[in-house]
Amino acid sequence: MDEKILVLDFGGQYNQLIARRVREQQVYAEIKPYHKITTQQIKAIGYKGIIFTGGPNSVYGEDSPHFDPEVLNLGIPVLGICYGCQLMAWMAGGQVSSAESGSEYGKTMLYRKESGLFRDIPHTSVCWMSHTDYVSRVPNGFSVIARTDKCPCAAMRDESRRLYGVQFHPEVTHTAYGKQMLHNFLYDICGCTGTWSMDGFAEQSIAKYRRELAGKKVLCALSGGVDSAVAAVLLHKAIGDNLTCVFVDHGLLRKNEGDWVERIFRGQFGMNLIRVNAEHRFLQKLDGVTAPERKRKIIGEEFIRVFEEEARKLGKVEVLVQGTIYPDVVESGAGDASTIKSHHNVGGLPERMEFERIVEPLRDLFKDEVRKVGLELRIPEELVFRQPFPGPGLAVRIIGAVTREKLEVLREADWIFRSELESNPVKNIASQYFAVLTDTQSVGVMGDMRTYGHTVALRCVTTDDFMTVDWTRVPFAVLEKASSRITGEVPGINRVVFDITSKPPATVEWE
Ligand code: XMP
Repeated sequence: MDEKILVLDFGGQYNQLIARRVREQQVYAEIKPYHKITTQQIKAIGYKGIIFTGGPNSVYGEDSPHFDPEVLNLGIPVLGICYGCQLMAWMAGGQVSSAESGSEYGKTMLYRKESGLFRDIPHTSVCWMSHTDYVSRVPNGFSVIARTDKCPCAAMRDESRRLYGVQFHPEVTHTAYGKQMLHNFLYDICGCTGTWSMDGFAEQSIAKYRRELAGKKVLCALSGGVDSAVAAVLLHKAIGDNLTCVFVDHGLLRKNEGDWVERIFRGQFGMNLIRVNAEHRFLQKLDGVTAPERKRKIIGEEFIRVFEEEARKLGKVEVLVQGTIYPDVVESGAGDASTIKSHHNVGGLPERMEFERIVEPLRDLFKDEVRKVGLELRIPEELVFRQPFPGPGLAVRIIGAVTREKLEVLREADWIFRSELESNPVKNIASQYFAVLTDTQSVGVMGDMRTYGHTVALRCVTTDDFMTVDWTRVPFAVLEKASSRITGEVPGINRVVFDITSKPPATVEWE
């Protein structure tokens, strides 16, 4: 990987989006928090370009993040975005002020001048703004290259040093020509040639691990989710039977899910898979527990215990494989491949178990890139594009105490809702959908008999990132069919409701 762009993170909410947008243009980008890297290190690594992200601060604020101004003199092109643009101005001796007539937020008309950054972009276009402060005097050597009706300096540049700043956000899709601007920066200004591609990632990783892990015994915890599946298949192709996958079936999975995981990994891929049927243990531990956080903790701890026991049975295992992906690395604050303080899905494993090495083949990849690798490895699409499923499983979709009977009721209701939804085009805009077994019982009538049964809630959400979600406008016909099938086919349920809450204020899961 010869070409790299540094995304220097000043606390902006779009830091990952910027890196993804760069990678979409076939240039590798990595994110570093501003306090985790020095100018000397930047120089030594030899980045082709640097992007300063936005951030919530004001450059004159007491605790606002700053950076060594020498970075502007390395001869490496820099693009400052929003706070990054103000910071660049401040570092180079310009002035930043607070907008007197209020801030700009949302879609804004951008009027540009001539600049390489704006090649092939109309003189007037829409950009997306989100700021209060702005550059009120550009530093010596800089000139203004764009404005909006309210903002006199919407973009600036020092052409001789190849320094560029934009007040708006080119990384969001609302900026009509943002992609072209980033392309111009990467290719025309930084001189990148586009060497990053997912093609060949799988092949190269397989060759690498085949070489590095020859003769070693390797263990992988398989959850049935896409990340651990891709990591496991990749390693299996590299080292075959030296890889053992452990799939802890805690009995809190959806209908047929455990068998499905087994069929794919053992049947289709011929992997060495140990399926631990631990339903009984988990249900015993969960007996009578109603507090959501307590449920999660119990499940997490028991998961580790079961996994450890299985690992011990295998004798000495040298390497542990984990499906950590890039957002996990960034969010755990590591952002630095040399610190082996890895974020992991199976909380606490590496701390309690001794391995020579932890292998995280996907730690540089975003989710969409992991999916591409998955497809390249011929993992079935239904697994590669699977909706998220919480680690604690159905235990957090049963309000109150978890019992085997309730699990069975919920599994059936969930299965019916999902199959009805999947046979309707609405599935294309639904990001996640499932049933929840509430702890409400109510009076109903069936035949001529009074019933007193459970209430099931149906949840369907649409989102890009699960940080904020909207409830999906599921057609009434789908809800009607699901409701009548659930009450008709699942004993014990006499009422079905549909959750019409967005996040915030609610969360996706009920617990
Ligand atoms: P919430 O309920 O926090 O969910 O809005 C956001 C997304 O995260 C999933 N989720 C979890 N995933 N372990 C996981 O691996 C968990 O404990 C967990 N809790 C929630 C949820 O399904 C949704 O996609």
